[in-house]
Amino acid sequence: MSKKSNKSIEEKSADMVVTPWEVSGIIDYKKLVKKFGTTLLDKKEIETIQKYSKGELHLLLRRGLFFSHRDFDWILKMLEKGEKFVLYTGRGPSGHTHLGHLVPWIFTKWLQDVFDVELYFQMTDDEKFLFNQNLSFSDTRNFAFENAKDVLAVGFDPKKTHFIFDSHLTPAMYRIAAEVAKRVTFSTAKAVFGFSNDSNIGMIFYPSIQAMPCFLPSVLKGKNVPILIPAAIDQDPYWRITRDVAPKLGYYKPAAIHCKFFPGLAEGGKMSASQPDTCIFTTDTPKQAKKKIMSAYTGGRATLEEQKELGGEPDKCIVYWYEFYLFESDDEKLKQMRTDCLAGKLLCGFCKKNLAEKVHHFIGEHQERRNKISKEMIEKMIIKE
Ligand code: TYM
Repeated sequence: MSKKSNKSIEEKSADMVVTPWEVSGIIDYKKLVKKFGTTLLDKKEIETIQKYSKGELHLLLRRGLFFSHRDFDWILKMLEKGEKFVLYTGRGPSGHTHLGHLVPWIFTKWLQDVFDVELYFQMTDDEKFLFNQNLSFSDTRNFAFENAKDVLAVGFDPKKTHFIFDSHLTPAMYRIAAEVAKRVTFSTAKAVFGFSNDSNIGMIFYPSIQAMPCFLPSVLKGKNVPILIPAAIDQDPYWRITRDVAPKLGYYKPAAIHCKFFPGLAEGGKMSASQPDTCIFTTDTPKQAKKKIMSAYTGGRATLEEQKELGGEPDKCIVYWYEFYLFESDDEKLKQMRTDCLAGKLLCGFCKKNLAEKVHHFIGEHQERRNKISKEMIEKMIIKE
């Protein structure tokens, strides 16, 4: 579990760092949107989505985990004009998949179903090899196949889903990456990603590889295709440079829809594989997952008497946030849980046990689907030419 810091909330939020490689401090999402120059999702976009989803809204959207965007309104306008978009998202295969990674994928699958669109999913086995001194190419390639099983276990339509494995770059893919790289200076890359003299030169080229799938569908289909990228907001720096380059190459700028970070089990901080104790991995046994939930931070009072007298603090409680974003879709039940907690009628042990059962079930079902996915099935979905 993470060590407690003595800093105040204001100090921690002033220290906020969000890059594709580091997320730290207390994240003030309103400030972050300003800093990154993105736009908060508003009612108008949500209402347009509802037109396509027959009124249903995914919990992750309804409860605001997906909260910000770039040009999502344009994607919806193009759709109204009859121009369909393509989804693009990805994974840097440096280890096992955790619940935080699943969050954008679960939402992406919902978008695929609602809009009946194709998905390009990038596995950046080169990225994790280049950025992590302890991983070999065969490690990252193996993780890429393991992680791809999780992707497919989320339920994407195999006929409409294509994998890009960076270690299988096709000539068309390499050519796009080179076209991008030629138009991004080292000075821009340094400013956006913080590269220094210690960065290896593979790292410096890499952003053009992550930009490439934004243009690949247009190249493969021989016409300009709008792209929508669902991902957590840490990936946004890539889209900033890609959007700058797009008009120079004659393509549409990719649009993005961003989520906040799904929290880890400890107090503060996102779920991150760099703190494995705070993660629920899809490879944990359902029993292990259940045990981990029983250790989650709830911010409960020091004694039973105090909890009953002062009530709990749901806004600090990880168990509450897991229910809020992922596990309790019934608004009335959630509201009751919050009211009872504040009134001191709910004890943390009870809430943990309740959530642990749900997570046990969730992981069990995910693994059942995952176990049915073979390497051959994934191979067939990798773009090879
Ligand atoms: P990676 O492997 O770090 O993360 C995969 C996806 O999971 C999101 N994510 C989270 N979302 C919510 N809560 C969390 N705690 C959490 N932790 C991670 C990430 O934002 C990402 O969407 N460079 C990328 C790989 C990549 C990619 C892409 C990602 C290539 N192309 C296009 C998104 C879209 C990476 O290392 O992701």
